[in-house]
Amino acid sequence: MLELTDIEAGYGRTRVLHGVTVPSGKVVAVLGHNGAGKSTLLRLAIGLIKPSKGRVLFDGEDITSLAPNRRVARGMAYVPQGQQSFGQLTTLENLQLVADGRREGRALVDAQLDRFPALAQFATRKAGLLSGGQRQQLAIARALITEPKLLILDEPTEGIQPTIVAEIEQTIMQLAAGGMHVLLVEQHIGFALQAAERYVVLASGHVTQTGEGGKAATSTVRAAMAI
Ligand SMILES: Nc1ncnc2c1ncn2[C@@H]1O[C@H](COP(=O)(O)OP(=O)(O)OP(=O)(O)O)[C@@H](O)[C@H]1O
Ligand SMILES: [Mg+2]
Repeated sequence: MLELTDIEAGYGRTRVLHGVTVPSGKVVAVLGHNGAGKSTLLRLAIGLIKPSKGRVLFDGEDITSLAPNRRVARGMAYVPQGQQSFGQLTTLENLQLVADGRREGRALVDAQLDRFPALAQFATRKAGLLSGGQRQQLAIARALITEPKLLILDEPTEGIQPTIVAEIEQTIMQLAAGGMHVLLVEQHIGFALQAAERYVVLASGHVTQTGEGGKAATSTVRAAMAI
């Protein structure tokens, strides 16, 4: 689905990613410590930053120079790190914002309210007043309204209470089982390896290990993160 080849990228003159290659797969996890370059890699995948070298392929087509909105139109959705939503709008308005103008918009919103009972419960509450976990669910729901082929998630369980972490992990597994591709950044090695068909470890912007999630040992992944 999405394939990144030999990517060099960064901010201004600062290079962050050094020859990074990410294979395609049903669920692909990117693991690494703080500052390793994980979010940079996802920003590159959705087109918010452009590589100075390397190629991005989606569905077999070269999209390296395609703008983010065009990538979304082709079936990519991106949930940035940090549980972002429009705090002054209600839960429902946050969802309607994306659904407006789409055919079956109302049904798309309802489907997400069914998927996330907490969002249905707090549909009329301002998103800024939701818990971190609920706001994360809202951010994922908003992305799902676009019915993506590939969902890009940046640390969806970071700083969230354990019960909601379990719900979010279950959602990711369900989406993958339903045929959606997922590019997942995680610091929790256990879940990432369990969910991922393939994984990539980043350390200081270099890939230090890749493999199949089901076959990997947590200890070797942890060692690769520390290189
Ligand atoms: N907008 C930016 N401008 C300049 N440098 C940046 C910018 N964003 C990130 N960086 C730098 O790029 C490097 C990688 O950051 P990135 O956010 O990709 O790491 P990360 O692996 O997502 O970390 P975390 O786990 O803390 O989210 C860091 O050294 C960071 O300081
Ligand atoms: Mg990050």
